[in-house]
Amino acid sequence: MTGANSGIGKETARQLVGLDATVILACRSQSKAAATCFELRESHIVNGRPGLGVAEQLMGGKGVEPMVVDLADSDSIQRFVAEFKRNHDRLDALVNNAATIAGSLQHNRDGVELTFATNHAGPVLLTSALLPLLQRSGTKERPSRIVNVASRLERQGRCDPDFLAGQRQTRPLDPKRGYEPLGHYCDSKLCNMLYTRSLSSFLDERVTVAAVTPGMVNSGLFRSFPTWYRLLTWPVRALYLRTPAEAAEGVVWALTAETIVGESGNYYADGVAVEPSAAAQDDELAERLCMATTQLLQGGSCGSASEAKE
Ligand SMILES: NC(=O)c1ccc[n+]([C@@H]2O[C@H](COP(=O)([O-])OP(=O)(O)OC[C@H]3O[C@@H](n4cnc5c(N)ncnc54)[C@H](OP(=O)(O)O)[C@@H]3O)[C@@H](O)[C@H]2O)c1
Repeated sequence: MTGANSGIGKETARQLVGLDATVILACRSQSKAAATCFELRESHIVNGRPGLGVAEQLMGGKGVEPMVVDLADSDSIQRFVAEFKRNHDRLDALVNNAATIAGSLQHNRDGVELTFATNHAGPVLLTSALLPLLQRSGTKERPSRIVNVASRLERQGRCDPDFLAGQRQTRPLDPKRGYEPLGHYCDSKLCNMLYTRSLSSFLDERVTVAAVTPGMVNSGLFRSFPTWYRLLTWPVRALYLRTPAEAAEGVVWALTAETIVGESGNYYADGVAVEPSAAAQDDELAERLCMATTQLLQGGSCGSASEAKE
């Protein structure tokens, strides 16, 4: 579970631990991951776990494990994957949940715009590196799962793979407004949808991939927005938006529901398949995005049928 130290990721992890899953909290901050680990173990003990004593549960063992990965940094992703493979011989599910909305135009060390790098390119690199393990861990009857946490804002997204490959960002700066944080975020969420489609086109029956929209959630995702905006919208967000725990239920559903076995590539909201935008269903666009992303990843790959085979 990436981005497991806050918001939807943390609550999904909490619910999964409650189902007795072993959850790796893949976070960019070691201290936040460790603190979340402690909190989840504690809440698990409060909720009770038959068969294990308090000391045993606090020590962890099964349950939750913190690991560090910065999705905007390809070296960090490679290190994470190497360590993961050293310590684990199976992976039943990968949840690509972490995301950011950069407040200004920033780039990662490869010169790729930060929101795109974090929300799309990093998860692609992580997923393709973990794919062989996911495949080894799954069977036709009980496939491993990849759940990409998407957003209905994908409908406002744009995807121009040629521009992306050349400029290392999804759209040009607006002549009046300059960098558009929300615009770049929407673009990255459309890319998540297209990547889900690409994956479903070549994954075999040992892995099922799904995109899930959690709805509008009162989380810290908009922390880069101006303070006045966050203060002004706080009452509305607190009153009308979903809690991260409510949103997490849809993610847990996609990780556990029998009904989605063999239904790779679908997009779900609260356990119901929903129709994505026309752009998100464009196979040619998905293929071109895959090629542009592979070009930006320098050594990583968006994946293909032949690579996915072991
Ligand atoms: N909130 C909504 O209304 C909403 C709606 C639709 C979809 N979503 C999607 O839901 C998912 C979870 O978002 P959320 O609402 O729960 O927001 P959140 O509380 O801000 O969680 C985002 C998580 O991503 C992590 N993250 C950010 N940059 C990272 C990086 N470079 N490497 C690794 N981790 C990184 C954050 O870690 P730090 O704590 O270290 O920053 C945080 O744990 C996202 O994919 C988002 O697009 C949210």
